[in-house]
Amino acid sequence: MSDRIIRLAAIGLGGRGRGQLNLLLKIPYVNCVAVCDKVPERRDEGIQIVKNNRGDNAEVRGYLDYKELFAKESLDAVMICSTWITHSRIAVAAMKAGCDVTMEVGGAASVEECWQLVRTSEETGKFCMLLENCCYDRNEMALFNMVKKGLFGEIIHMQGGYQHDLRDEICLGRENRHGRLFNFQHRNGELYPTHQLGPISKVLGINRGNRYISLVSMASKSRGLAKWAKENKGEDYDLASYAFNQGDIVTTMIKCANGETVVLTHDCSLPRPYSRAYRIQGTNGIYMEDGGTIYLEGISRENKEHWTHTWEKFKDDGYLEKYEHPLWKKYSIDGIHEGGHGGMDYLVLCAFAESVKLGGQPPIDVYDTATWMAVTYLSEQSIAMGSVPVPFPDFTNGAWIDREPYRRGIFCLDEVCEDCFEVENEVLHRS
Ligand SMILES: NC(=O)c1ccc[n+]([C@@H]2O[C@H](COP(=O)([O-])OP(=O)(O)OC[C@H]3O[C@@H](n4cnc5c(N)ncnc54)[C@H](O)[C@@H]3O)[C@@H](O)[C@H]2O)c1
Repeated sequence: MSDRIIRLAAIGLGGRGRGQLNLLLKIPYVNCVAVCDKVPERRDEGIQIVKNNRGDNAEVRGYLDYKELFAKESLDAVMICSTWITHSRIAVAAMKAGCDVTMEVGGAASVEECWQLVRTSEETGKFCMLLENCCYDRNEMALFNMVKKGLFGEIIHMQGGYQHDLRDEICLGRENRHGRLFNFQHRNGELYPTHQLGPISKVLGINRGNRYISLVSMASKSRGLAKWAKENKGEDYDLASYAFNQGDIVTTMIKCANGETVVLTHDCSLPRPYSRAYRIQGTNGIYMEDGGTIYLEGISRENKEHWTHTWEKFKDDGYLEKYEHPLWKKYSIDGIHEGGHGGMDYLVLCAFAESVKLGGQPPIDVYDTATWMAVTYLSEQSIAMGSVPVPFPDFTNGAWIDREPYRRGIFCLDEVCEDCFEVENEVLHRS
């Protein structure tokens, strides 16, 4: 690998942006020369993070306005961790300024937003990679490995969700200057689709021989947030009697060109333990995240006495260990388990940095980014129209049938490239 040092800027330094910047600076060949947040204290915290990691003399300038940053700085890349409705416009400006982009997850508010990302990337030759960390989760990667080895047979149906009790974070959005609240007040749809749709799309080969063709969404009534506000902030607090638009549970069904179906669940305003409710089901068996269970015909133990199929445990019965993805084997050997969300945050940042360093073709490209984000506005449209099916745009303009090959490598999400792990790779080593 070349010894090129990447000159990078970090924009949006809330809790997530600060955490990701700290991690990104563990990659020895990444230099963060500029930080930006529209809030002055956060801009200054960003500068301090760079100095804490790289010393008091580190070259780093602070900005309040990303347009000024792009006008003044000469950069290779940018990491955007602002808010759902600002990610894309900053990404478009960044690509026009000659930067490769990675941006934090969220959904799109319009089809135009998605097309702007695609067209700007095509016109500038710069990439736009959604920073979808869940694609690099240990379980998701082992399961991808199993799918590619054919253990589930032909895939028929998949499920997933963002099921995370965020009532406090949402309701205290004004006090904590956090962006989710306004979305839950004014929108109604699958607001956060990509955490499970990312891994699902990679299993299904979306945009590479398969594509999403239509979607339908349905929203329940909304009670959870107002109830939380009343119980925790008192009856007089304005949100205690607020009629939130966002339904507590939003269910979305997607149909694929090759015949598979996908169900997504958005569930952030009722009490519950965290789960992404991953389910993979094929002609040979099924995996269910809730319960951590798996059944594979001809492989799992059978209850011969009662002639019934029996669930096994994905972890305790040895599946995770046996089918560990080589990236996670390497990651464990290198002994770098720290880093956000059990390690997947560091891996997705390494995948981004490696793509910048090698000059393009990230494992999550602009077509993946646009497709996964599009689910939000499509589901909003479906719900607004009374849960009618809506057509899914083809952001590849037909190229999904016959795309240029993906780049193989240790971070590849389209194939498990075993041979690439045989050569020593410096990417995962931290400073
Ligand atoms: N992948 C994950 O696991 C994960 C985890 C947490 C958050 N996130 C995502 O990361 C993003 C940020 O999350 P957060 O919790 O830090 O949000 P936040 O609202 O606390 O922080 C966003 C920051 O961006 C700044 N900002 C907004 N608009 C800006 C602009 N135009 N120019 C410069 N700065 C601007 C805000 O001032 C704020 O400091 C969100 O999209 C969130 O969904 C992802």
